[in-house]
Amino acid sequence: MTGEIPTEKVLELCETIYTKVLKSIEEDFMTIPEEKARWVMSAESNKESAERYDAWAEQYDADLQSWGYRSPAIIAGIVGRYIPLDSSPILDAGAGTGIIGEVLNILGYKGIVALDLSKGMLDVAARKGVYSDLYQMALGKGMDFPTDYFAAVVCVGTFASGHAPPDSLDELIRITRPRGHIIFTVRSEVYERGGFKRKQQELQLANEWQLLEIVGPYISIPGSDDPEGTNKVFAYRVT
Ligand SMILES: C[S@@+](CC[C@H](N)C(=O)[O-])C[C@H]1O[C@@H](n2cnc3c(N)ncnc32)[C@H](O)[C@@H]1O
Repeated sequence: MTGEIPTEKVLELCETIYTKVLKSIEEDFMTIPEEKARWVMSAESNKESAERYDAWAEQYDADLQSWGYRSPAIIAGIVGRYIPLDSSPILDAGAGTGIIGEVLNILGYKGIVALDLSKGMLDVAARKGVYSDLYQMALGKGMDFPTDYFAAVVCVGTFASGHAPPDSLDELIRITRPRGHIIFTVRSEVYERGGFKRKQQELQLANEWQLLEIVGPYISIPGSDDPEGTNKVFAYRVT
Protein backbone atom coordinates (compact mmCIF):
# COMPACT_ATOMS: atom_id res chain seq x y z
CA MET A 1 0.00 0.00 0.00
CA THR A 2 1.27 3.52 -0.89
CA GLY A 3 2.84 5.33 2.09
CA GLU A 4 3.08 2.22 4.27
CA ILE A 5 6.54 1.58 5.74
CA PRO A 6 7.60 -2.09 5.75
CA THR A 7 7.87 -3.67 9.22
CA GLU A 8 11.59 -4.44 8.75
CA LYS A 9 12.28 -0.77 8.00
CA VAL A 10 10.37 0.31 11.15
CA LEU A 11 12.34 -2.19 13.25
CA GLU A 12 15.61 -1.01 11.72
CA LEU A 13 14.71 2.65 12.49
CA CYS A 14 13.75 1.74 16.08
CA GLU A 15 17.08 -0.04 16.56
CA THR A 16 19.02 2.95 15.21
CA ILE A 17 17.15 5.38 17.48
CA TYR A 18 17.59 3.07 20.49
CA THR A 19 21.36 2.77 19.88
CA LYS A 20 21.73 6.56 19.50
CA VAL A 21 19.73 7.31 22.66
CA LEU A 22 21.71 4.71 24.62
CA LYS A 23 25.02 6.17 23.40
CA SER A 24 23.97 9.69 24.32
CA ILE A 25 22.84 8.58 27.82
CA GLU A 26 26.18 6.78 28.24
CA GLU A 27 28.11 9.90 27.16
CA ASP A 28 26.20 12.12 29.62
CA PHE A 29 26.66 9.57 32.35
CA MET A 30 30.41 9.44 31.72
CA THR A 31 30.74 13.14 32.53
CA ILE A 32 29.92 12.40 36.20
CA PRO A 33 33.17 11.18 37.84
CA GLU A 34 31.54 9.16 40.66
CA GLU A 35 29.46 7.28 38.14
CA LYS A 36 32.57 6.14 36.30
CA ALA A 37 33.90 4.39 39.40
CA ARG A 38 30.56 2.64 39.95
CA TRP A 39 30.34 1.82 36.25
CA VAL A 40 33.70 -0.01 36.10
CA MET A 41 32.96 -1.84 39.35
CA SER A 42 29.72 -3.25 37.98
CA ALA A 43 31.39 -4.86 34.94
CA GLU A 44 30.33 -8.49 34.62
CA SER A 45 33.10 -9.82 32.39
CA ASN A 46 36.68 -9.03 31.37
CA LYS A 47 35.33 -7.83 28.02
CA GLU A 48 32.92 -5.39 29.66
CA SER A 49 35.62 -4.21 32.07
CA ALA A 50 38.09 -3.56 29.24
CA GLU A 51 35.46 -1.65 27.21
CA ARG A 52 34.56 0.55 30.18
CA TYR A 53 38.18 1.35 31.02
CA ASP A 54 38.89 2.00 27.32
CA ALA A 55 36.11 4.61 27.40
CA TRP A 56 37.48 6.20 30.60
CA ALA A 57 41.20 6.04 29.76
CA GLU A 58 41.88 9.56 28.46
CA GLN A 59 40.05 11.21 31.37
CA TYR A 60 41.19 8.75 34.10
CA ASP A 61 44.25 10.62 35.40
CA ALA A 62 42.41 13.95 35.61
CA ASP A 63 39.52 12.32 37.52
CA LEU A 64 41.76 10.46 39.95
CA GLN A 65 43.81 13.60 40.54
CA SER A 66 40.67 15.66 41.22
CA TRP A 67 39.51 13.00 43.74
CA GLY A 68 42.83 13.21 45.61
CA TYR A 69 43.88 9.60 44.83
CA ARG A 70 45.96 8.50 47.83
CA SER A 71 47.18 5.04 46.85
CA PRO A 72 50.27 6.16 44.86
CA ALA A 73 51.81 7.85 47.94
CA ILE A 74 50.93 4.94 50.24
CA ILE A 75 52.21 2.31 47.81
CA ALA A 76 55.44 4.28 47.26
CA GLY A 77 56.08 4.18 51.00
CA ILE A 78 55.44 0.44 51.29
CA VAL A 79 57.43 -0.42 48.16
CA GLY A 80 60.33 1.58 49.63
CA ARG A 81 60.17 -0.51 52.81
CA TYR A 82 60.52 -3.87 51.09
CA ILE A 83 61.65 -3.72 47.46
CA PRO A 84 65.35 -2.95 46.93
CA LEU A 85 66.03 -0.32 44.29
CA ASP A 86 67.98 -2.72 42.06
CA SER A 87 65.05 -5.20 41.84
CA SER A 88 64.16 -5.84 38.21
CA PRO A 89 61.90 -6.60 36.45
CA ILE A 90 58.96 -5.33 38.53
CA LEU A 91 55.44 -6.13 37.35
CA ASP A 92 52.77 -3.42 37.69
CA ALA A 93 49.71 -5.69 37.44
CA GLY A 94 46.55 -3.78 36.49
CA ALA A 95 48.82 -0.85 35.66
CA GLY A 96 46.04 1.20 34.10
CA THR A 97 47.34 4.55 32.85
CA GLY A 98 50.64 4.07 34.67
CA ILE A 99 50.13 6.30 37.72
CA ILE A 100 52.03 3.83 39.94
CA GLY A 101 54.71 3.09 37.33
CA GLU A 102 55.37 6.80 37.02
CA VAL A 103 55.96 7.12 40.78
CA LEU A 104 58.22 4.04 40.90
CA ASN A 105 60.20 5.38 37.95
CA ILE A 106 60.72 8.73 39.67
CA LEU A 107 61.92 6.84 42.75
CA GLY A 108 64.59 5.18 40.59
CA TYR A 109 63.14 1.70 39.95
CA LYS A 110 63.98 0.33 36.49
CA GLY A 111 62.59 -2.46 34.33
CA ILE A 112 58.96 -1.81 35.26
CA VAL A 113 56.54 -3.90 33.21
CA ALA A 114 52.88 -2.94 32.76
CA LEU A 115 50.06 -5.45 32.43
CA ASP A 116 46.42 -4.48 31.95
CA LEU A 117 43.19 -5.70 30.42
CA SER A 118 42.41 -2.39 28.74
CA LYS A 119 44.28 -1.30 25.62
CA GLY A 120 43.04 2.26 26.09
CA MET A 121 44.55 2.46 29.57
CA LEU A 122 47.83 0.90 28.35
CA ASP A 123 48.03 3.41 25.49
CA VAL A 124 47.98 6.25 28.03
CA ALA A 125 50.55 4.39 30.17
CA ALA A 126 52.83 3.86 27.14
CA ARG A 127 52.93 7.62 26.46
CA LYS A 128 54.47 8.20 29.90
CA GLY A 129 57.61 6.34 28.81
CA VAL A 130 58.19 4.70 32.21
CA TYR A 131 57.60 1.03 31.33
CA SER A 132 60.15 -1.26 29.68
CA ASP A 133 57.29 -3.43 28.34
CA LEU A 134 53.50 -3.26 28.25
CA TYR A 135 51.22 -6.29 27.92
CA GLN A 136 47.50 -6.39 27.29
CA MET A 137 46.64 -9.43 29.39
CA ALA A 138 44.12 -10.57 32.02
CA LEU A 139 45.14 -11.36 35.56
CA GLY A 140 44.13 -14.91 36.41
CA LYS A 141 44.95 -18.37 35.19
CA GLY A 142 47.65 -18.99 32.61
CA MET A 143 49.51 -15.68 32.54
CA ASP A 144 52.03 -15.64 29.75
CA PHE A 145 55.21 -15.12 31.83
CA PRO A 146 57.84 -17.70 32.87
CA THR A 147 57.88 -19.03 36.44
CA ASP A 148 60.03 -16.94 38.87
CA TYR A 149 60.39 -14.18 36.27
CA PHE A 150 59.68 -11.04 38.33
CA ALA A 151 61.72 -9.69 41.23
CA ALA A 152 58.56 -8.08 42.61
CA VAL A 153 54.92 -7.36 41.80
CA VAL A 154 52.72 -4.39 42.67
CA CYS A 155 48.99 -4.40 42.00
CA VAL A 156 47.00 -1.30 42.91
CA GLY A 157 43.24 -0.73 42.62
CA THR A 158 42.73 -3.95 40.68
CA PHE A 159 41.28 -6.24 43.35
CA ALA A 160 37.79 -4.75 43.55
CA SER A 161 34.25 -5.56 42.40
CA GLY A 162 34.07 -6.15 38.66
CA HIS A 163 37.88 -6.46 38.48
CA ALA A 164 40.41 -9.29 38.89
CA PRO A 165 39.50 -12.38 40.99
CA PRO A 166 41.36 -13.88 44.02
CA ASP A 167 42.71 -16.72 41.82
CA SER A 168 44.99 -14.12 40.24
CA LEU A 169 47.16 -14.46 43.34
CA ASP A 170 48.23 -18.04 42.41
CA GLU A 171 49.73 -16.83 39.16
CA LEU A 172 51.32 -13.75 40.72
CA ILE A 173 53.13 -16.05 43.15
CA ARG A 174 54.21 -18.41 40.35
CA ILE A 175 55.78 -15.61 38.28
CA THR A 176 57.53 -13.98 41.28
CA ARG A 177 60.97 -15.19 42.37
CA PRO A 178 61.41 -16.87 45.76
CA ARG A 179 61.94 -14.10 48.38
CA GLY A 180 60.45 -11.56 45.96
CA HIS A 181 57.68 -9.28 47.18
CA ILE A 182 54.04 -8.95 46.15
CA ILE A 183 52.36 -5.73 47.29
CA PHE A 184 48.71 -5.16 46.48
CA THR A 185 45.53 -3.34 47.51
CA VAL A 186 42.20 -5.05 48.15
CA ARG A 187 38.95 -3.09 48.38
CA SER A 188 36.79 -3.71 51.41
CA GLU A 189 33.77 -5.06 49.54
CA VAL A 190 35.73 -7.95 48.00
CA TYR A 191 38.10 -8.76 50.89
CA GLU A 192 35.71 -11.15 52.66
CA ARG A 193 32.71 -11.35 50.34
CA GLY A 194 34.86 -11.64 47.21
CA GLY A 195 37.05 -14.44 48.64
CA PHE A 196 40.37 -12.57 48.99
CA LYS A 197 40.73 -13.13 52.74
CA ARG A 198 40.22 -16.89 52.37
CA LYS A 199 42.55 -17.15 49.36
CA GLN A 200 45.30 -15.13 51.06
CA GLN A 201 45.06 -17.32 54.18
CA GLU A 202 45.10 -20.55 52.14
CA LEU A 203 48.29 -19.43 50.39
CA GLN A 204 49.87 -18.60 53.76
CA LEU A 205 48.86 -22.03 55.18
CA ALA A 206 50.31 -23.72 52.09
CA ASN A 207 53.54 -21.79 52.77
CA GLU A 208 53.42 -20.13 49.36
CA TRP A 209 54.07 -16.73 50.92
CA GLN A 210 54.57 -14.93 54.24
CA LEU A 211 52.52 -11.92 55.28
CA LEU A 212 54.81 -9.01 56.20
CA GLU A 213 52.40 -6.16 56.77
CA ILE A 214 48.85 -4.89 56.37
CA VAL A 215 48.36 -1.14 55.97
CA GLY A 216 44.96 0.51 56.31
CA PRO A 217 42.05 0.51 55.89
CA TYR A 218 42.22 3.88 54.20
CA ILE A 219 39.98 5.77 51.77
CA SER A 220 41.79 5.75 48.45
CA ILE A 221 39.69 8.35 46.62
CA PRO A 222 38.43 10.77 49.30
CA GLY A 223 36.87 13.11 46.73
CA SER A 224 34.53 10.48 45.35
CA ASP A 225 31.12 9.78 46.80
CA ASP A 226 31.66 6.08 47.52
CA PRO A 227 30.89 4.74 51.02
CA GLU A 228 32.53 1.36 50.43
CA GLY A 229 35.70 2.79 49.00
CA THR A 230 38.23 1.70 51.61
CA ASN A 231 41.36 -0.27 50.79
CA LYS A 232 43.97 -2.26 52.63
CA VAL A 233 47.48 -2.79 51.32
CA PHE A 234 49.04 -6.23 51.83
CA ALA A 235 52.78 -6.89 51.61
CA TYR A 236 53.86 -10.52 51.19
CA ARG A 237 57.21 -12.24 50.63
CA VAL A 238 57.09 -15.27 48.33
CA THR A 239 58.67 -18.37 49.91
C1 LIG B 1 41.21 1.23 39.27
S1 LIG B 1 42.25 0.89 37.91
C2 LIG B 1 43.86 0.99 38.70
C3 LIG B 1 44.94 1.35 37.72
C4 LIG B 1 46.27 1.72 38.36
N1 LIG B 1 46.88 0.61 39.03
C5 LIG B 1 46.09 2.89 39.31
O1 LIG B 1 46.36 2.72 40.51
O2 LIG B 1 45.68 3.96 38.84
C6 LIG B 1 42.07 -0.87 37.67
C7 LIG B 1 42.77 -1.40 36.43
O3 LIG B 1 42.66 -2.82 36.44
C8 LIG B 1 42.43 -3.26 35.12
N2 LIG B 1 41.78 -4.58 35.21
C9 LIG B 1 40.53 -4.89 35.61
N3 LIG B 1 40.34 -6.22 35.62
C10 LIG B 1 41.52 -6.76 35.23
C11 LIG B 1 41.97 -8.09 35.02
N4 LIG B 1 41.16 -9.15 35.24
N5 LIG B 1 43.24 -8.29 34.58
C12 LIG B 1 44.07 -7.23 34.36
N6 LIG B 1 43.69 -5.94 34.53
C13 LIG B 1 42.44 -5.72 34.96
C14 LIG B 1 41.57 -2.19 34.49
O4 LIG B 1 41.65 -2.21 33.09
C15 LIG B 1 42.16 -0.93 35.11
O5 LIG B 1 43.16 -0.37 34.31
